[in-house]
Amino acid sequence: MTVLVPTMGALHKGHQALIKRARELDKEVVVSIFVNPLQFTETEDIEKYPRTPEADIQIATLAGATQVWFPTYEEIYPSQPIQISAGQVGERYEGASRPGHFAGVLTVVNRLFEIVKPNKAVFGEKDFQQLWLISNHFKKVKIVAVPTVREFDGLALSSRNVRLTQADRAAALIISKALKEPSRMKEILATEPAFKLDYAEIIDEKTFSPASATTQNKRAIIAGWVNGVRLLDNAVVGTNS
Ligand code: PAF
Repeated sequence: MTVLVPTMGALHKGHQALIKRARELDKEVVVSIFVNPLQFTETEDIEKYPRTPEADIQIATLAGATQVWFPTYEEIYPSQPIQISAGQVGERYEGASRPGHFAGVLTVVNRLFEIVKPNKAVFGEKDFQQLWLISNHFKKVKIVAVPTVREFDGLALSSRNVRLTQADRAAALIISKALKEPSRMKEILATEPAFKLDYAEIIDEKTFSPASATTQNKRAIIAGWVNGVRLLDNAVVGTNS
């Protein structure tokens, strides 16, 4: 039985946590490293995506991967891929800012599953909308979620953090601060001039639409930019059942 940890490389402690969790689930852990062109929008520069293959092999192996797999584009897409629709939820929030992004994610995950045939796959809660869409779309592979790994000061780990200067990084902390007070999120975010808000919303985890008075499981989701670097984060609101 195989557990798959799909990644785009530039591995950090957040990925390590996914791989460690995968290893707890089974003996055979495949880590895939593939920068998927389909999930980048026209305005995003795929060439700028950090690529650190040697360090990735070390990090993945140390965390417990039994195979680190760098598929080629042709392996993943031997012919023109038919993209999987991410439906209405795929058009909200991240999907509204990055049209086609989630169709690209579902399409590559589907190909990875077809090739590796895992019985389980591990994804981070950091990309909560991605996790939601994958969990709702793929029913034959057990999707296991791992909580977001944070720096000592609360900043959620992300491959994009390497593009932040020290000043940007300090400004980015407003996101995790705002998540601690969901009812005042927007007000708190507005206190940081270097943070450009995309969205800050409390959603119903069941429907991924804005939470209502009767919503049981709520989550606060935030996205925005600091100095052109897109950052996102989320946290449970209250106590979820
Ligand atoms: O979260 C990511 O790194 C990517 O979106 C994924 C799931 C590996 C698909 O390319």
